[in-house]
Amino acid sequence: MAESLIKNGTTKSEQYEVLLTQLKYLIGNETNNIANLANVAAGLKEFFDFFWVGFYLVDQNELVLGPFQGPVACTRIALGKGVCGAAWKNNQTILVPNVDEFPGHIACSSLSKSEIVVPIRKGSAIIGVLDVDSSELNDFDEIDQKYLEELCAWLGSIL
Ligand code: SME
Repeated sequence: MAESLIKNGTTKSEQYEVLLTQLKYLIGNETNNIANLANVAAGLKEFFDFFWVGFYLVDQNELVLGPFQGPVACTRIALGKGVCGAAWKNNQTILVPNVDEFPGHIACSSLSKSEIVVPIRKGSAIIGVLDVDSSELNDFDEIDQKYLEELCAWLGSIL
């Protein structure tokens, strides 16, 4: 197939459905994790024009920056640190309506205003997190959470 996405869908749910279907098709049987995570980050950025979309992957006792789209970001995050480290430690999705109000938030860019971080699980182990940042306050809701969790569940099954 041509490596391009068709953007349609009226509601946010429909847009996520369309995007996830195309990402699954685009990735197909590809087994290279870097390539697959890179295309997922690019797809989310292209579809929703988020400020920053990327992955932090578990490497021993830290998260290390993986494929992403957006401005340069911090490379390593310790367990429990920032939103990413907290999502990893607590084994749960974290929605942050206002990053300035999240204790310990790691500000890679002052332009990031709200954020969602979703763990990626392989079996019972967390192997990384998906981090999405917006330049708008309060930009993520339960619809983003539902579909990004679905996306990460699928990623956990193919990584
Ligand atoms: N804000 C994140 C750090 C990663 S950047 O947003 C890309 C955090 O607090 O964990």
